[in-house]
Amino acid sequence: MSDAPEGWPFAEPYKAKMIEPIRLLPAEDREKAIRHAGFNPFLLQAQDVYIDLLTDSGTGAMSQDQWSALMRGDESYAGSLSFQELGLAVTEILGFPHLLPVHQGRAAEHILFRTLVKPGQVVPNNMHFDTTKAHVLNVGAQPVDLVIDEGRRAEGDHPFKGNVDVARLDDLLQRHGEEIPLVMVTVTSNQNGGQPVSLANLRAVRQVCDRHGKLLFLDAARFAENAFLIQRREPGQTGRTIPDIALDIMSLADGCTISAKKDPLVNIGGLLVVRDRVLFEALRTQTILYEGYATYGGLAGRDLAALAQGLRESVDEAYLTFRVGQVARLHAALRDADVPVVSPAGGHGVYIDAAALLPTVPRHAFPAWALSVELYRERGIRAVEIGTVLAGRDAATGEHDYPAMDLVRLAIPRRVYSDAHLAQVAEATRRIARRRETVPGYRMVYEAPVLRHFTARFEPV
Ligand code: F0G
Repeated sequence: MSDAPEGWPFAEPYKAKMIEPIRLLPAEDREKAIRHAGFNPFLLQAQDVYIDLLTDSGTGAMSQDQWSALMRGDESYAGSLSFQELGLAVTEILGFPHLLPVHQGRAAEHILFRTLVKPGQVVPNNMHFDTTKAHVLNVGAQPVDLVIDEGRRAEGDHPFKGNVDVARLDDLLQRHGEEIPLVMVTVTSNQNGGQPVSLANLRAVRQVCDRHGKLLFLDAARFAENAFLIQRREPGQTGRTIPDIALDIMSLADGCTISAKKDPLVNIGGLLVVRDRVLFEALRTQTILYEGYATYGGLAGRDLAALAQGLRESVDEAYLTFRVGQVARLHAALRDADVPVVSPAGGHGVYIDAAALLPTVPRHAFPAWALSVELYRERGIRAVEIGTVLAGRDAATGEHDYPAMDLVRLAIPRRVYSDAHLAQVAEATRRIARRRETVPGYRMVYEAPVLRHFTARFEPV
């Protein structure tokens, strides 16, 4: 995927018309800024960051067609033209007859779970994203992750580390079928590296759901990157177009929750789409209650217009070839520098195995947090810890709930940074790896009771 076509280097299939200046603060100023932020990259001011890889969510660059769609946004309260245009794009790209716009992905999760899930029930997923997990817990149900074992390890080149362990899903449905209102699959799986799910696996999950009479929902924030990775990696899919594969993925599901801030290329927005009319009506009632009227769902008409256009652009093969290829090129550069990374490369970011990179920082001193701070100190780069700080504490014991891996995610915003920017990231990581024994661990000196990573403060030890 990162091989240049016929020996030519890769280049963006677009050029810049408007630019946003960025600057690298001098080292002393970066030192002051990170100290002032309590050694928490979330608490930095964005203008003090040189290359911001905190998230790929809502941070993409819109196209000229999206910007012009904004100007044509219809702000009518009900039945706006922009909503109708969004409906056409949803039918064309996702193949669903019913849609509810919502303000972002977690709003779709909120509406879906409060409508379908009861206290004491169980919701299986390959790997729940944080907000999905939190919304399952919020309605008093239990999230269960059933990703294949290969998906829990950084090494190994299984092409579809997002796959569901179908035998375990079948077993869970046999034993606890009555307590399971729906099955979810996250495409791509964000928690373990932006790893894709194969079409074959989705078909097998569909069969199991049919056998047990269960609804299948996709958490489809990154459906287009998943379709692209299917085209590149799954036997028999090579010659197919991305829109065809995306429609195939969708055809297997009864509905989707979608954060439109990822693959659909908008800065804010989400979708809840379903096939069944009766279910749609139940979800619509809740949407009107919590998000806004059913044809705008907490968004402006112009947001709907930009989203309709973004959905069409999200499945463009030239764009995806550059985008997913860019992630693969950063992955290859880090691997060549012997930086331990989750492999193979995923769709939206590169995940560094920080505990392996920094063996001198014990896990209670947060190696992934330490690496995220060090990336800022070295070169003004902001990344995010997906490790022990994010995982929080075990409710019963009060101890850190150590996850399988302490990772640092370098999430790549869409259409924002060039390969030259990412070469800066690779070089910074390489330099840190070379002086790894100088990287300190951290002690948490302030911690909120929930979602502590956003506001925690640290001191080096
Ligand atoms: N599902 C997945 C797989 C996600 O990655 C996210 C958000 C959501 C749902 C929630 O969507 O933010 O629009 O409410 N992920 C962001 C990230 C925050 O940085 O990975 P949202």
